[in-house]
Amino acid sequence: EKDGYDWFMRKEIFEQPRAVADAMLGRHDGTGKLQLDEVRLSEDELRTVDKIIIVGCGTANYAGLVAKYAIEHWTRIPCEVELAHEFRYRDPILTRDTLVVAMSQSGETADTLMAIRHARLQGSRVLAICNTNGSTIPRESDAVIYTHAGPEIGVASTKGFLTQLIACYLLGLYLAQVRGTKFGDEISQVLDELAKMPDHVQTVLDQSQAIYDLAAQHAETRSVLFLGRHAGFPIALEGALKLKELAYIHAEGFAAGELKHGPIALIEEGLPVFCVVPPEGRDELHSKMVSAIQEIRARGAHTIVLAEEGDESITAYADDLIRLPKVPTLLQPVVAVVPLQLFACELATRMGHDVDQPRNLAKSVTVE
Ligand code: F6R
Repeated sequence: EKDGYDWFMRKEIFEQPRAVADAMLGRHDGTGKLQLDEVRLSEDELRTVDKIIIVGCGTANYAGLVAKYAIEHWTRIPCEVELAHEFRYRDPILTRDTLVVAMSQSGETADTLMAIRHARLQGSRVLAICNTNGSTIPRESDAVIYTHAGPEIGVASTKGFLTQLIACYLLGLYLAQVRGTKFGDEISQVLDELAKMPDHVQTVLDQSQAIYDLAAQHAETRSVLFLGRHAGFPIALEGALKLKELAYIHAEGFAAGELKHGPIALIEEGLPVFCVVPPEGRDELHSKMVSAIQEIRARGAHTIVLAEEGDESITAYADDLIRLPKVPTLLQPVVAVVPLQLFACELATRMGHDVDQPRNLAKSVTVE
């Protein structure tokens, strides 16, 4: 059932072009109008939403962090992202006009389930983004967007994450459409870009050998850092989580702007640092990321740079360079996370770890 792959995780990484395509299937009519029939909340109800809170854990929380950038930009609805296990204990402000989005691949994560029960008791509406039909979280929600990734067996989430991102983009665009914050042609432009994502993900997967070579080169490393900005920041966090859970090594993700406020002290000779560079079109973000890369390299870091095709501004500062397809900034997480998944999978394999069943972890965490 692993189709010739050594791990389910590796198989699932390579299934992502199809998973991403399936997550979008049948959800727009080709004229740029989205139809999310499963969102059983009336357009009137969606128009009154004045705050969105996305709850989830681990990788699902990082998908939520990406979603915040897109949803706020497209809809102008304030959007918070919170770890599900922290949510109800701080007495969050919830009203009938709060839309709580429960992000859960399995649909069984107890922390997330308890968070939505709390939200519903306060009268808020809950929309689940979930990969498992008929699981508990969608059953207890007012609406659901299924991610259609197919069963995810590897404990570390990969295609689950990519399809969560797609579902978030669709939700954001749908809200923008219903509320009129973006005009039809802008929505269809983003949908056109989204439609290219399966091919873009494949383009990244086609570089897998180079990423495996990189993992071989860093097989002895005990610590890895990840830097990103904007929607690339959650990807830095996700890259670090994948390494922690699979390779059992110290890994941390930072917003690149935070470096000078402390973490730059960690940089030492030879430390591998993955750097997710925003698209060149975003000048103000891009140039700041380039200077962050220059600074850590001047202090001895071994920079592994993920930058879009044609971006020559970073070649002088990249010890290793991974090329990403040209995509809009808000969609870049979909392609940027893939090399990080491949790296973690390969490094853990080289270290002799069980990639599908990392120590101490379970696929769905059904206790709080
Ligand atoms: C990491 C991972 C976990 C899950 C988290 C939430 O690779 O898989 O961090 O993302 O336990 O799981 P779900 O999405 O099933 O609620």
